[in-house]
Amino acid sequence: MPSKSSAKRAPTQRSESPAKAARTRRAATVPPPLAKRPRMGNRKAVTRTSSIHGRGVVARVPIAAGERICEYVGERIGWPEALRRHPHDPEQPFHTFYFSIDDDTVIDGNVGGDFSRFMNHSCEPNCEAELVEGRTLRVFVVALRDIAVGEELVYNYGLSLDERYTPTLKKQFACHCGSDRCIGTMLVPKR
Ligand SMILES: C[S@@+](CC[C@H](N)C(=O)[O-])C[C@H]1O[C@@H](n2cnc3c(N)ncnc32)[C@H](O)[C@@H]1O
Ligand SMILES: [Zn+2]
Repeated sequence: MPSKSSAKRAPTQRSESPAKAARTRRAATVPPPLAKRPRMGNRKAVTRTSSIHGRGVVARVPIAAGERICEYVGERIGWPEALRRHPHDPEQPFHTFYFSIDDDTVIDGNVGGDFSRFMNHSCEPNCEAELVEGRTLRVFVVALRDIAVGEELVYNYGLSLDERYTPTLKKQFACHCGSDRCIGTMLVPKR
């Protein structure tokens, strides 16, 4: 377990809990609120066993580049509460369902979340996270290119830790995305 870590978008936040965050872009327009989550039959994606890790999310319909696929939902909590909850499974201390949206707020996909929390990381992503400003900051997953039915939906988590990236740490956050461009770790390289 890293002693000090922080999400890339929360550089002042000290935590012992990794959270997905970076590689996001801010949308220019605010979408209408999702009054209801899409029912299973209306969803663009479903969960499946993944060749990358555990369960993943695959497209159940063709998805066009730029299309918004789903919202990353879950309980919105502060970092102190996120640290208290982490890890959600002591047997997997480096597993996270957190998405850090700013210095103060983390979305815990493990509480009140849906299939969106099962999206895996890839060094060669076909999706990206988009931050949308409104009454609250919301996170949407958007296709970076056309995606065929059955393709796993992946984005770059942008995990960033304050401490030095030792071989042990890199191993703890080893990436199994399988891409030719895989850098071997889910951690964002330090400059
Ligand atoms: C939000 S979960 C994704 C769903 C996960 N596959 C599951 O079954 O719970 C994030 C966790 O999945 C694992 N993971 C995701 N992408 C990975 C990758 N490219 N390589 C290795 N582990 C990965 C890591 O343990 C990470 O903390
Ligand atoms: Zn990789």
